[in-house]
Amino acid sequence: MKIHTYEKLWLVASLVLIVGFIATITYGSVALGITMVGDEEPTIEPDEISDDERFGEPRVEQVGENEYEAYVIAQTFIFQPETIEVPADSEVTFYVTSRDVIHSFSVVGTNTNTMVIPGEISTLTVEFDEPDEYGIVCNEYCGDFHHTMEGQLHVVP
Ligand code: CUA
Repeated sequence: MKIHTYEKLWLVASLVLIVGFIATITYGSVALGITMVGDEEPTIEPDEISDDERFGEPRVEQVGENEYEAYVIAQTFIFQPETIEVPADSEVTFYVTSRDVIHSFSVVGTNTNTMVIPGEISTLTVEFDEPDEYGIVCNEYCGDFHHTMEGQLHVVP
C-alpha cells in the first residue's frame, strides 16, 4: 500500500514532536535540576517537633531591626502560637510545620497562603506595612473540626 507523501510527512512530524517532548522533559528534570515542590525544603520529623529548638516553643523572634521570624505549628485543630504579634513596617518570615496531617497556613485577605505538610517546613516571607488584624485559617480539610482551626495575626503600631 502506498502511503501518501503528506501522510508520511505528518507521521514524521508527530514522531519528532513526541521525541521532542520527551527530550524536553528529560532535559528539564535532569540537566536543569528541576525538582518537585518540597524536594529542597528543610525537613523535620513530626515526633521531634517538641524537642526541636526552632519549634519546641512556637513563637515570634526578632532577628533584625525590622525583621522577625515566626515559628508556627499547625495541628488538629489549632495553630501554635494561636496569636502572632508583629509590629507594623516589618518583614516576617514564617516557618510552619505540621504535627499530624496536612493543613494550610492562610492569612485571610492576603496572598499569604501555604500548604503545611508533616515532615516539612513551609517558609514564606511577608512584609507588613500597616497595623491591622488578620485571621489565620486552614484551607486544607484536616478533620471534623477543620472549620474551627484558626489563629490571629496582629500587626501592631
Ligand atoms: Cu487544619 Cu483544616
